[in-house]
Amino acid sequence: MARRKIIAGNWKMNKTPSEAVALAVELKPLVANEDVDVVFCVPAIDIVLVAEAVKGSSIKVGAENMYFEESGAYTGEISPAMLVDAGVKYVILGHSERREYFGETNEDVNKKMLKAFEHNITPIMCCGETLEQREQGVTMDFIRQQVKVGFQNVTADQAKTAVIAYEPIWAIGTGKTATTAQAQEVCAGIRACIAEVYDEATADAIRIQYGGSVNAATAPELFAQPDIDGGLVGGASLKAEFGKIVNYK
Ligand code: PGA
Repeated sequence: MARRKIIAGNWKMNKTPSEAVALAVELKPLVANEDVDVVFCVPAIDIVLVAEAVKGSSIKVGAENMYFEESGAYTGEISPAMLVDAGVKYVILGHSERREYFGETNEDVNKKMLKAFEHNITPIMCCGETLEQREQGVTMDFIRQQVKVGFQNVTADQAKTAVIAYEPIWAIGTGKTATTAQAQEVCAGIRACIAEVYDEATADAIRIQYGGSVNAATAPELFAQPDIDGGLVGGASLKAEFGKIVNYK
């Protein structure tokens, strides 16, 4: 089955509301590509304005995090219903920065995954190993655990619509992209894990991105790999270069 590519920008903690609008307006014509799903994952405070700024294009707006409760006394958190009402279609869950700095566990990520599906928000679930784990030869063991726990109680029909982002931690923001072969190997391993947990049809449908210092020069070869269905792009998504990445062919 030919999977549609999905290329998402992860703006992280960058861009004030007015800066976010300016960037969205600048990128809008540059990221036009009807063959690819294009998503801007932006800080929560920028979501409403960016959604307005990209109207009339096929760009989708995503969030960078979400809480797993419906509403109530959770000071500082953002609920799934708030995101949906603001026009959000995707949410990044379990990014390594959230796991490292905010203590998110695989169990937290799983609760968020289930909530996202309940609200018809497509999760972009992140996984990836540290350099130490790679050197110890436990990359796939670690990632399989992240994926298996993250997808606990997720149905096959839901999993088919999900996105997994493989992001080796040592490649994020370091300018050190995994080699194409390394990225393809792990993405194929993730797909095999989904086939084990579910079935071949689910593994065939789910989209797996590579992330970690993706740029206009590395995107074409990465995205041409059989198990890499696009990218999650940090630094280069804040620049005109993102247009080149989206139009990588
Ligand atoms: P990077 O970030 O492209 O700046 O390495 C990727 C990410 O963390 O999603």
